[in-house]
Amino acid sequence: MRTIVKWTGIGLLGLAALILLAGAVLYVSTSRRLKKMYSLPAETISIPSDPESISRGQRLVTARCGGCHGPSAGGTVIFQDGALGTISAANLTAGRGIGGEPLKDSDYIAAIRHGVSHAGRPILTMPSEFYYYINDQELGEMIAYLQSSTPIENPLPATRITPLGIALIGAGAFGDLIAAEKIDHQAARPAVVEPGVTVAYGDYLVRAGECRTCHGMNLNGGKDPDPNAPPAPSLTPGGELSTWSEADFIKALRTGSTPGGRQMSPFMPWMYIRQMTDDELKAMWLYLQSLPLEGQK
Ligand code: HEC
Ligand code: HEC
Repeated sequence: MRTIVKWTGIGLLGLAALILLAGAVLYVSTSRRLKKMYSLPAETISIPSDPESISRGQRLVTARCGGCHGPSAGGTVIFQDGALGTISAANLTAGRGIGGEPLKDSDYIAAIRHGVSHAGRPILTMPSEFYYYINDQELGEMIAYLQSSTPIENPLPATRITPLGIALIGAGAFGDLIAAEKIDHQAARPAVVEPGVTVAYGDYLVRAGECRTCHGMNLNGGKDPDPNAPPAPSLTPGGELSTWSEADFIKALRTGSTPGGRQMSPFMPWMYIRQMTDDELKAMWLYLQSLPLEGQK
């Protein structure tokens, strides 16, 4: 009996040592990934200055970025946990940025299109693998808005992840949070899709609107990387949307209320997506309805 206890004890100690060692290896390798410097292709995008483009930019930034950077782009703390660390989505208003450094047009392009910060390092959690698809015109409008926005004083705690958090990111506990690693930075730009109430334009808007971050790569259901978030249901005709009409879809995204009368959780960023125009929402609806029952073609 005593020997069994002894050997079990040694076994458990050995297991604990192995887990610690695996954690340390993950911590070191993931820290290296987070410190990697990226060199990006030089891109020139024309930044408009007319009020109409700036107001379109404001609408697009609010719809696509508000969930993390806040309704006026002043930044928010998106995650805070004593054991894992803090993630703040930067203040994007004019002249601010991480640590209060003013951002240049090229910094905005690097962050949005490549997931790379002004310091050349990967940005954690920001879904740039989807913003990569945002076309030059819309990106120019978004930057025009941000550069001309009213500066907001909103001091945020610095993004800081604990060694445990870093090891867990490396283990994939929150999905794949380093967009810069998923993007082919040197690839030719995707072809520009003509705006309209079409499946193709809906495909573009769903991509650029990063619906896949939570609803899954095949849009047939997934989960927000935040461990506290509820599951995000399927958006294909195989899910609940099979019983919805186009009007139900638009109403749900404008009011947060589903045809069944359920109020959607704030993890679903409908209060920002509601900025999309009727035609944009109709195009997204057309695209989602064109999907096969089980997910993306
Ligand atoms: C899932 C959350 C999330 C979303 C959505 C998001 N971001 Fe971010 N963003 C972040 C985080 C986190 C940081 C990094 C903050 C840090 O490292 O301190 C960041 C940083 C930035 C930076 C600063 C880069 C720098 O070098 O200072 C810019 C610019 C930016 N985001 C633009 C955008 C825009 C524009 C959108 C919408 C198209 C967007 N973000 C959507 C989370 C997000
Ligand atoms: C940050 C995560 C996140 C993103 C990004 C996101 N969603 Fe959601 N979505 C959710 C969650 C979570 C729910 C479930 C909410 C609930 O029922 O309480 C949901 C629910 C929905 C529903 C209701 C589905 C049903 O069966 O009740 C629709 C429609 C929807 N989302 C559309 C979209 C579209 C379109 C986009 C992109 C423009 C998008 N979502 C982006 C998290 C997200």
